Amino acid sequence: MRGSALGAPEGMDMSKKLWAGRTSGKTNILADEYNSSIKIDKRMYKEDIEGSIAHVAMLSHCNIIKKAEAKKITDALIKIKKEIELGKLKIDDSAEDIHMFIEEILTKRIGEVGKKLHTARSRNDQVALDTRLYVRKEIISINFLLDKLIEVIIDIADNNRETIMPGFTHLQKAQAVTFAHYILAYGMMYKRDMERLYDLYKRVNVSPIGACALAGTTYKTDRRYEAKLLDFDGLSENSIDAVSDRDFIVEFASDLSIIAMHLSRQAEELIIYTSSEFNYIELSDEFTTGSSIMPQKKNSDMAELVRGKTGRVYGNLITILTILKGLPLAYNKDMQEDKECIFDSIDTVKKSIEIFIHMIKSMKIHKDRMREDALVGFINATDLADYLVNKGMAFRDAYKVSGKIVNYCIEQSVAYDKQYTLENLLLETYKKFSKKIDRDVYDFIKLENCVMKRMSLGGTSPKNIDRQIEFLSK
Ligand code: ARG
Repeated sequence: MRGSALGAPEGMDMSKKLWAGRTSGKTNILADEYNSSIKIDKRMYKEDIEGSIAHVAMLSHCNIIKKAEAKKITDALIKIKKEIELGKLKIDDSAEDIHMFIEEILTKRIGEVGKKLHTARSRNDQVALDTRLYVRKEIISINFLLDKLIEVIIDIADNNRETIMPGFTHLQKAQAVTFAHYILAYGMMYKRDMERLYDLYKRVNVSPIGACALAGTTYKTDRRYEAKLLDFDGLSENSIDAVSDRDFIVEFASDLSIIAMHLSRQAEELIIYTSSEFNYIELSDEFTTGSSIMPQKKNSDMAELVRGKTGRVYGNLITILTILKGLPLAYNKDMQEDKECIFDSIDTVKKSIEIFIHMIKSMKIHKDRMREDALVGFINATDLADYLVNKGMAFRDAYKVSGKIVNYCIEQSVAYDKQYTLENLLLETYKKFSKKIDRDVYDFIKLENCVMKRMSLGGTSPKNIDRQIEFLSK
């Protein structure tokens, strides 16, 4: 460890490297800086110390070190952890990495016995362990946030069972749906995201510690004992794989990319729906910005940022895949680069979910505006065809008749500069297109009824909304 500009902490001997075995350990300052990962991995200090405490307990349990020695090391580690937490011990950014920093402080404080901590382990299994412990914790915390987001969605859905809006395909008005139905679609995505993370958790929660550098160890260690202390569900079975495997980082980066993609799609829709052209939704002032020149503006910057940051989250996935693609077994220093990208994805996605929770909770839903907009665009044209089918016409013929009526309405609207809709078209006009059409057509194509009648499983009817809410609440 070399002194930083801030000065060397606790008067450590900065010139000697713990790993100076074959080499002198006197590296160029440029190499030191290039090699150092502590600015990135210092956030794993807790995991590193907890891992070391478990390791010491195992070494003592297996009589590899003495009980008194274990106690001395453990007490010192606990103290170091506390001091870092309280800000009393500053992590030195010029150290090589968090593992070296903690071990060096430990040895400096308790002397010779501190040097026994690294028995029967290597930084290769140590870093794999720390990263797994860290990722494990973050999976839980992201699932907690997703759960909260789903709760907000359920709440919004609950209050909008009868809020009619146009559903879109190709961003063209398609059929009537309820706002509840629409927003629950996102709830389903976030639920799958949670399931994906739960599934990943199984593969993360496997202990690599004890694999040592790559080949295992000659000491009579007890890997199971150590894994149990750290709440792992299992152990990696092959020590070479244990220190080389970063699949869980790739998977996590991928799961986070899918979450970001979902958030980004919803963000895109918020942007569209808050535009003055749509005006379906209004975001609270807390989550919008104004323009420095155009006083009328209310911009959906947070939604745009969620959409924009998704690019970086995808980039991180490609980064880790590319880092790993040509690596021979087992550990290679390239792997140190895994943390920068996964930490960035974790931070970005967590912040995006948090923004979303508050942003959608506080948004205003313009029910009347959506209902009004649903009247334009013939979103009940399918229902008109269905009406004719009910009166005995084949669907393909009914589809054509309905299409002709829609065309007629569009032409008349242009000619007379007045909205011709299926709702206000006179019965005598309807009759010109088909004798089968009667007065009951108006009731049949009423948007409320169109929604009510879509009772097929998963459809937009209120009964289905109850089911969907129940499904998400589980
Ligand atoms: N800082 C390193 C990393 O993040 C720790 C492992 C170093 N191992 C080694 N053999 N140099 O990957």
